[in-house]
Amino acid sequence: MHVNLYKCQEETTGADIWSRSRLRMDNGHWKPALVLVVVLLSTYVEASYSQHMDDFINAVRRVEDGDHGSDPLSVLRRLRMAAGLNDAFIGHFLGNAVGPEVDASLSGYLSKAVHHRVTEDAKEEGVVLTPDGTTVALAPLLLGIEAGFLAKTEGRVRGLYQLTLAKDLDSSPLLGPDGCWDSVTSPQVFTLMGSPSALTTARVNGGMDGVVLGMEVSTKGRRPLTLSGLLSEYYCGQLESEGLDTAPRLISRRRRENFRGLVSPPVLARQVVKAVELRRTLTGRSKMEVKEKKQLVALVKEGMKEFVHKYIDCPPIIPRCMWGAEPYRGTPTNLSLPLSFMFIHHTHTPSQPCLTFQQCATDMRSMQRFHQDDRGWDDIGYSFVAGSDGYIYEGRSWLQRGAHTLGHNSVGYGVSLIGDYATRLPSQHSMGLVRDQLASCAVGGGRLVADFVLQGHRQVVNTSCPGDALYDEITGWEHFGEVKKGK
Ligand SMILES: *[C@@H]1O[C@H](CO)[C@@H](O)[C@H](O)[C@H]1NC(C)=O
Ligand SMILES: *[C@@H]1O[C@H](CO)[C@@H](O)[C@H](O)[C@H]1NC(C)=O
Repeated sequence: MHVNLYKCQEETTGADIWSRSRLRMDNGHWKPALVLVVVLLSTYVEASYSQHMDDFINAVRRVEDGDHGSDPLSVLRRLRMAAGLNDAFIGHFLGNAVGPEVDASLSGYLSKAVHHRVTEDAKEEGVVLTPDGTTVALAPLLLGIEAGFLAKTEGRVRGLYQLTLAKDLDSSPLLGPDGCWDSVTSPQVFTLMGSPSALTTARVNGGMDGVVLGMEVSTKGRRPLTLSGLLSEYYCGQLESEGLDTAPRLISRRRRENFRGLVSPPVLARQVVKAVELRRTLTGRSKMEVKEKKQLVALVKEGMKEFVHKYIDCPPIIPRCMWGAEPYRGTPTNLSLPLSFMFIHHTHTPSQPCLTFQQCATDMRSMQRFHQDDRGWDDIGYSFVAGSDGYIYEGRSWLQRGAHTLGHNSVGYGVSLIGDYATRLPSQHSMGLVRDQLASCAVGGGRLVADFVLQGHRQVVNTSCPGDALYDEITGWEHFGEVKKGK
């Protein structure tokens, strides 16, 4: 086994330690005597729990440690009740949430953490930051898991796609956007980067995780696990030096590949139509007419195309705000798209592949500092950077000209892999992110021409970059092209 599983909350940062040790007090033998503490705690809990997955898992653990036990289905029902996830649509598949209420000291936090909405000033609520730097909406996640656990008793999974994703895939052909947290160590406020659709990136992430985990827990013979155990296994798995190459299958950093393996877009599209029909029935409206249904099917098909492009073909990209980028200095130059080249780099320094969000974000900040302060450039030079943590990090991105490949910055994207690859290769997984996903994402989005040429930095500039080992490797990649002289 190459992966250490740890409990998220063991990775505490300074400010959190005090609050967390306080919270543990009322679990143990202190409880009977300290009524006052419990009362104080109830205001305290809400103030001190952040919108981080670690804190949510801790809250779940407290529900499980309470008087009503840790049976996952019953815990999920109590969470659903606390969060008010109790409408007719959900009840149709999962039944009404009935049972003992969660402790008053937790219910405020839980309903705030789980209840999903987007405010008028583009703040997205009901979402949490995960240790891998992505954000998930908790409601679709929990509904998917509940559908999975319920299937264990009912024999088949009902409504998994409808509860997690399909319910909102019809409302608009637009999807996203992602957003930015006010703090990555103690996140409280998540602000969207543009106008919200019904399926923000966090909703999609939560929905995908709900499908993946719902399927998993419904599998017969899987060892029983508490909800908090399941969440910490999935969200807190650490990688060793091989990166995702040797990581377990069921880990949040594999969200998109797992989802891709489970769900076919036509099946998902049919579920979207079924969800609309069900909602009509539940609200007492008549069935759709043939023409209306045809229009819906066409609309869903369009929406599904965008969904597949954005969330299945494209790799997950950590936005600049999440790695703590400094602003661009000066005025960026727009690229004229589509471009014809992708240039492959290694960072050389940092020389070690990064395996965690924290480390990759630190590396991104240090490269940006070097490029801006020492080199005097406007910004980090690369268009995109691949970590070994399962993610692509946003540099100058798709629209702005980079500073990566002297004399060729207007004609191609510069993509760098973090590490020194003179004598060894990056993880297969991180190379796949660049070679397959980033490339097809660029072509599908009209950013690169379909017959674009992929080259190593050294083919156009006198440099050893991207390292001998990585250069040898990319000569075998599709789209690899020989030097065209005379540029
Ligand atoms: C560059 O593109 C952005 C939109 O993507 C636009 O707002 C801006 O005006 C453009 N800049 C120039 C110099 O064309
Ligand atoms: C390339 O760089 C090396 C050292 O950095 C230098 O010795 C060599 O002359 C350069 N070649 C050309 C063609 O500029």
